[in-house]
Amino acid sequence: MNSKIHKLLLKTDRIMSKKIYAPLLAAFLFFSTLTSLNAQLILRGPYLQSPGPNSIIIRWRTDTPTDSRVYYGTSIGSQTLFADSATATTEHRVKINGLTPLTKYYYSVGTTTNTLRGNDAALFFNTAPDASSHSPIRFWTIGDFGHGNDGERKVRDSYLQYSQNTGHPADAQIWVGDNAYSDGTEAEFQSKVFDTINGYGNVFLNLPFISTSGNHDYNSICPWQNAQGIPVLCGQDPNTHTGPYLNIIDPPTLGELGGVASGRKIFYSMDYGDVHIASMNSELGSYTSAYNWTGVLNTSQTFTSPMLDWLKADLAATTKKWKVVIWHQTPYSGQDNFTEENSVQIFCTATRHHFNPILEQYGVDLVLVGHDHNYQRTFLINGHYGGKPDFDSATMMINGTSGREAEEGPYVKYTNGPLSGVGTVYVIAGNSSEGNTYSPIMHPAIYWGEACDTCYGSFIWDVNGDRLDGRYLTATGEIKDSFTIVKQQWNSIQKTEPLANKVKVAPNPFTDQTEISFALNSNEEVHLDVYDISGKKVASNDYDNTKTGRQIYIFDGKNLSAGQYFYELKTEEQSLRGKLMLVK
Ligand SMILES: [Fe+2]
Repeated sequence: MNSKIHKLLLKTDRIMSKKIYAPLLAAFLFFSTLTSLNAQLILRGPYLQSPGPNSIIIRWRTDTPTDSRVYYGTSIGSQTLFADSATATTEHRVKINGLTPLTKYYYSVGTTTNTLRGNDAALFFNTAPDASSHSPIRFWTIGDFGHGNDGERKVRDSYLQYSQNTGHPADAQIWVGDNAYSDGTEAEFQSKVFDTINGYGNVFLNLPFISTSGNHDYNSICPWQNAQGIPVLCGQDPNTHTGPYLNIIDPPTLGELGGVASGRKIFYSMDYGDVHIASMNSELGSYTSAYNWTGVLNTSQTFTSPMLDWLKADLAATTKKWKVVIWHQTPYSGQDNFTEENSVQIFCTATRHHFNPILEQYGVDLVLVGHDHNYQRTFLINGHYGGKPDFDSATMMINGTSGREAEEGPYVKYTNGPLSGVGTVYVIAGNSSEGNTYSPIMHPAIYWGEACDTCYGSFIWDVNGDRLDGRYLTATGEIKDSFTIVKQQWNSIQKTEPLANKVKVAPNPFTDQTEISFALNSNEEVHLDVYDISGKKVASNDYDNTKTGRQIYIFDGKNLSAGQYFYELKTEEQSLRGKLMLVK
């Protein structure tokens, strides 16, 4: 630029600054301040609900009421499509329809005249596979996570790291209850769940959650105990339940995403890819029998309720390859103060008595619960509806191995034949922000568990065609447990009845001696070994002429220390491992 002209412009600029720019600047600042004072702020979200192949719901909260608009498109800079809601509200809800399955969309949220947040790489959603697709999908289950503490943050960050390492983020997060401590209040959800420091505020921008409620969430819906901690049970009609948790979630209640309409947020179902997920409610206990839909303190085998009737209809109707049920209160636990028939854990007992027979009747593959603040999971089991001492491995243990492909092989669920649909794995994922160490984990149905005051983790599971892989991911990034379930035709692989069906251990747990027995239809050589928890062999035996009747081995633990032992039975074609629990 010519130097004379430049100097002139600078001089002019100084004059203008004093005479014109200053008043203009003051006016600008005045109106800017007014504008910023009145600017609508996002106080929660956005977050994603009811993820489907062709639709999704986007929710967010603002400080002042306006209408709502979501812009969306398949690239950040090209969000040309939009969906509106004309209602003036601070609780914004926009449902987008007409989406393409298995597609990544970026989105922005705001009003019909102003975008509040958008053109942001973090704001996206992926649509689900359509009904005919069998695409691999991943779910991430967290339970008892709402403390807003270091544990919650570490569990979140370990998943994010795992997701990055494997190049496969989850398609949805699954909550199994006690989502916000201690009472599931609005303020607790805001500060401990939607928070971005220890909570999931940023995760929810692009990861939908599918949820159920826990007893702590229900403290702000219909409490089950009084201020002294004495069970009083909720006395309200479940159809009238309202509260913060139910206001936050937006699940498909009318069968919009598959499943039978429940008409209620308190329990519902949906499909995602090859998976059917039913969200049950373990908290619906009441002394008023008409409202006791969980069946708390009711031991009748013919007990039913509107929730159980719906579950039967829902599971009977689904044709999905994989059936998964979630609720909060664990039916089985190897920690002594949980799940057995006592006054405190009556909800746990009720789910075992009344939920499990129905879901096993319809071939449910996986059950996800929380409540117990640790990780535990069962063998592949069936038919255990009583207390811990009632577990009969001869009839209830469908596969007593680890279920790991690299060890004894995956759990097999047959799609036809005498064991068609038989066998369920129950997972407790209740340590996503709190751990405990009440007692060692000892239960004949539990394969493995981890319990300590600082043991945090979550459960990741993948579905890919005929295969389901489950993994326990600790807050420190370790995979400490895994198992696989595969679906197979009975006739295509089955030469003899599985050894697992023929083995019986009783009593177990035991104090002095226990009987390990089996019966085979064929005459095979069978070898038995018993190991302690360090892997040291403590007993063994060989059998011939096994077709001659039930073979019985008496394992004597009088001179052994209390604790876990493992038996292993081997034939030429099969092997089977199971747990023995010696108590003194
Ligand atoms: Fe709980």
